[in-house]
Formats: sequence, structure tokens, C-alpha cells
Amino acid sequence: MLEILNGLAKQAEEEAEKIHDRASLAALKAKFLGGSSPLKQAFADLKNLSDPKQKGPAGKMINDVKVQLESLFDRREKALSEEEAQKKMAGEKVDISLPGVSRVKGAMHPCSLVVKDLTDFFLGLGYKVAEGDDVELDMFNFELVNIPKDHPSRDMQDSFYIDDSRLLRTQTSAAQAHVLQAAKGVGPIKIICPGKTYRRDDDDLTHSHQFSQCEGLVVGKNVTMGQLMETLTLVLRHLFGEKRQVRFRPSFFPFTEPSIEVDVSCYNCDGKGCPMCKNTGWIEVLGAGMVHPNVLRMNGFDPEVYTGFAFGIGLERIAMLKYGVEDIRDFFTSDEAFLRQFRKE
Ligand code: PHE
Repeated sequence: MLEILNGLAKQAEEEAEKIHDRASLAALKAKFLGGSSPLKQAFADLKNLSDPKQKGPAGKMINDVKVQLESLFDRREKALSEEEAQKKMAGEKVDISLPGVSRVKGAMHPCSLVVKDLTDFFLGLGYKVAEGDDVELDMFNFELVNIPKDHPSRDMQDSFYIDDSRLLRTQTSAAQAHVLQAAKGVGPIKIICPGKTYRRDDDDLTHSHQFSQCEGLVVGKNVTMGQLMETLTLVLRHLFGEKRQVRFRPSFFPFTEPSIEVDVSCYNCDGKGCPMCKNTGWIEVLGAGMVHPNVLRMNGFDPEVYTGFAFGIGLERIAMLKYGVEDIRDFFTSDEAFLRQFRKE
């Protein structure tokens, strides 16, 4: 009996050493220590011993083997978990000597900064933001803002045509016709429309075939030129400082009557004259005027009842002045070094 039992322990040891996964080890443990194992059988056979005096030593012997087997399986279980953990760690190895992945932090585009600033400002005055499309019908870009086909003023806005009736919009003034028509002849209207615009132009320091504008349109009963001048004075002082003087000069736009060109006193020399203002003391910033009765009428408003004003601000021009940018093309060439300057740290 002793031999059989010792043999069991040896056999278990040999078999357990060959096993490298937990499930097989559990099966082996059941075979040697489970309900139908020879060891259990040996305990059961104790009661059949003829000499009761042998029961004690025999029981102790079987128990010793049981303890031996249990510690064998404990040891193997621990060794296997260790092996598994090692394998897992090897698979997840991180090479901490590799340089990290650096992410480039983006910045708001300077023109977007101007749009955001203007939008916040005009929302504060109760305006809404209207959106238009870059691809526009000739009808809305020109005809409905009082620029009929063959009108000489079209020459000032050489366009990219897609076909006979569609083009890349040359001015955000196209939004005027859309907004008026959507209101179906009933005011008041108070909107701005910031967006991209395109004209066939030879690119140089101050000209680009793509640029952006912010249109403003206010229509209601008794809207006056005085309100337009006050609004423009407010926005220009907001953009360039409270001490700025604003100057209005007569001008011409087909969709406004009267029309004005608006200058702000040079913030660089405070109006004394410097290279920035070409020694005039003034910087030209935008065009505006009272909405032409034809524009109101063509888009469903009665000019006997309603009046309005409109303005168009060139956004790159404002950004160039505000941030001291000398070449308009810098806005479109995606030069990281240029754009990085507008990053907020
Ligand atoms: N659309 C004009 C331009 O692009 C600007 C403007 C807008 C003038 C609204 C008057 C009123 O030059």
C-alpha cells in the first residue's frame, strides 16, 4: 500500500510538470484528489482493515500523501499563473525609449477670429446670422440686387462662372435678396451674413481671387441713414478702438442709394499720417448705403412702407489691419508658421 501511494505522488509530480495550462492541471488534480481518485478509495478502504491497530498509521500515511499531492498542485497552480502573467507582460511591452506622438495644436484662422468678433458684436445688437452658398445664381448675385445683365457695374466684379446662370458669388450682397424674399414682404429684418466670396483678380499683396465679406442688412419702417452711420461708428470703434473717428464719403453701389464709403482714422498714427494710412490719416474699410428701392421692390418689399440700410465689410482687410498682416495671400497659403501666431497658448 505504501508503495502504491508513493508511486501515486511520483506519477502526479511527473504528469503535473508536463502541463502548462490551468484547465489540464485542474483535470489532473481531479484525477489524483477527486471523488473517484485512488486516494479517496484508500481512505474508504481503511474501514475494511482487519487489524484495527493498523488504522491509525495507515490513515496517517494516506493523509501524508494527500498533503503532498495538495502542495504539489498548489505549487503548480502558482507557477502556471506566474507563467501566464509573464507571457501577458511580454506581449504588452511598451518601449519607453520611443519618442511620444506629438500633436499639433490648431489655431483659429485670423479671418475666423474677425467673423467671431463681428458675430458676437452684432448678435449683441439683436441681429441674426444668415448663411448663403458659395455657388450662387447670377440672378441673386447680380440681378436681384439691381445689377441687370449688361450693366457696366458688373465689370467691377469679374466673376468665376460655372455655367450661364451660376457663378461663385462675388459679394455677400447676394444674401440680401435671399433674406428679403424669405421674409415675404414683412419686416423688420436685421441680419449679418459672413462668408466667402470670389472674383477673378490678379493676386498681389492686397488682392486675392478668394476673400470674404460680412454683409449687414436692416429693413423696417423708418430705418434711417442716421442709424446706419451710428451702427457703423459703433462697429468700427469696437474693432479699432473707442477713440477712432469715422468718416463717410459719397460713393456708388447699384444696390444702395445713397451709397457711402467709410473710413476710420488711422489707429497707427492717430490720424497724423503714416505709411499705414498712406499719409492720409484715414483707412478705407467698408461700403454701405440705404437699400435701393428697386432691391426692396424686386424682392417683395414695398419701398413706400419699408426702408433699410446695408453694409459690406471686407474681412481680410479688417484682419490685415487688426493683426498687421502685409500680404493678403498669407490667409490662403496654409503656412503653419503664419497661422501659429494666432494660437492661444
Ligand atoms: N457688395 C459691396 C462690394 O462687394 C459692398 C456693399 C455691401 C456696399 C452692402 C453697400 C452695401 O463691394
